[in-house]
Amino acid sequence: MDFSITSKSPETITSYLIVGVFADRKPTHAAKLIDKVSKGTLQRNLKSLNFSGESGKSVEITNLPGVKAKAVLVIGLGSNNCKIDFIRSIQNMFKRMRESKESSINLYLPELKAPGVNRAWMWRQISSIGTNADYQYQLRKNVLDGKSLSGATRRVSAQIEGKVTDLDRAHFKQGHAIGKGMNLAKDLGNLPANICTPTFLADITKKLGKLNKFPVKCLGEAEMKKLGMGALLSVSQGSDQPAQLIHATYSGGKKNEKPIVLVGKGITFDTGGISLKSSGEMDEMKYDMGGAASVIGTLLAISEMKLPINVVVLVAAAENMPSGAATRPGDVVETMSGKTIEILNTDAEGRLVLCDALTYAEKLKPAAAIDVATLTGACIVSLGKVASGLFSNNDELAEQISHAGTVSWDRVWRMPIWKDYKNQLDSNFADLANIGGRAAGSITAACFLAEFATAYPWAHLDIAGTAWVSGKNKGSTGRPVPLLCEFLLHRS
Ligand code: BES
Ligand code: MN
Ligand code: ZN
Repeated sequence: MDFSITSKSPETITSYLIVGVFADRKPTHAAKLIDKVSKGTLQRNLKSLNFSGESGKSVEITNLPGVKAKAVLVIGLGSNNCKIDFIRSIQNMFKRMRESKESSINLYLPELKAPGVNRAWMWRQISSIGTNADYQYQLRKNVLDGKSLSGATRRVSAQIEGKVTDLDRAHFKQGHAIGKGMNLAKDLGNLPANICTPTFLADITKKLGKLNKFPVKCLGEAEMKKLGMGALLSVSQGSDQPAQLIHATYSGGKKNEKPIVLVGKGITFDTGGISLKSSGEMDEMKYDMGGAASVIGTLLAISEMKLPINVVVLVAAAENMPSGAATRPGDVVETMSGKTIEILNTDAEGRLVLCDALTYAEKLKPAAAIDVATLTGACIVSLGKVASGLFSNNDELAEQISHAGTVSWDRVWRMPIWKDYKNQLDSNFADLANIGGRAAGSITAACFLAEFATAYPWAHLDIAGTAWVSGKNKGSTGRPVPLLCEFLLHRS
């Protein structure tokens, strides 16, 4: 997608024109102008088509008298003080544009009055939704190819009234970067596990570092063993694919400013190990690196935006397989923190790779650390596919993340990690068991992680329900890249 912002008057547009109409056929400024030059034909048409301006609906009108545009697409914007209506309208519009294969469109920005909405927000939404809508999966290994990240080659001119400022362009570009970050996350998630291995994730992150000029180092199994990461290595020991701890350092901020550390669960395939999963939909466990994909996608976005902030991205990448060398239920391992774990279920592997990464993060003295993981099926039971689960040991951080989720409409819902739950993790043979029974499964998983994230403000996002969709439209969603980018935009 090729974006630009200009401020031409709508009646002078000769190519494809898109204007909005609010509920009850209340026209935006641009629609009013078109109606005026067409001597009321636009409104008459809308009326006879019974088009009310409902969000998500649109109609194409051609041959409007006095209007030069080859066609006018009128999109319903719904209420003009509701940002969800706006998001839905823009998503629908880009979907329609994608189907029509229209190569050059002119979109007029409506005057929205929703709380918390400003021009910056609208620009970011339009360009991120547009970039995202043009995503096309292909079996390709060069996922960093700029063209594929940007989507189809379509020219989108966003039009506003009055002067276009540098700030308008900057916000528009930010949305484009966020959309590209989502597209990268989607590509990594959608690639099959025979291609997207821990080593592949490491290579992609290194390439991204080369392109956008930040250092990336990857620790192999021998180095992790030296650090005492017995929990992480217990997951990969049954696989022929070696584990990787990816460590990328983006330094956009001041030299001695503490970094925000993002930690991604990167299980490139989760069979469950010896506690083998049932075969139904097991293919979807290729998405078990969705947390990793989202933090790598966010890294792409913030480095393209050149955000003035220090961010470290850690990815704990491993494949969870059964084999003669695999971990057995009942095995006890020692973590980098010194705590021991009784592995009662080898399918609760996400927390095992994350706990060592969270201890490793201590060295970086984080201002805050956020881990992102497709951690528990229980989280899908509680929050479905709408909100990601948020868990935190710090109210201020939790509030900032919730807020970023609402602003970007990539929402989270906070759940407790009260001490009362912790005894579900008691073990007779180690400091902790890696499972806590059926009750409150996503909470006990988060309580487990909290035992290792004691040295800094920490939050955990359980994205098991939000990272991908199943069924006919099966595919990665690119969430929570918008949330993480919004959070980092606020913090920078
Ligand atoms: N990756 C899964 C969680 C998951 C399951 C995500 C289904 C999305 C869809 C995780 O590694 C896992 O297997 N968790 C177990 C934990 C249990 C053994 C305590 C689960 O949720 O069943
Ligand atoms: Mn598992
Ligand atoms: Zn898993």
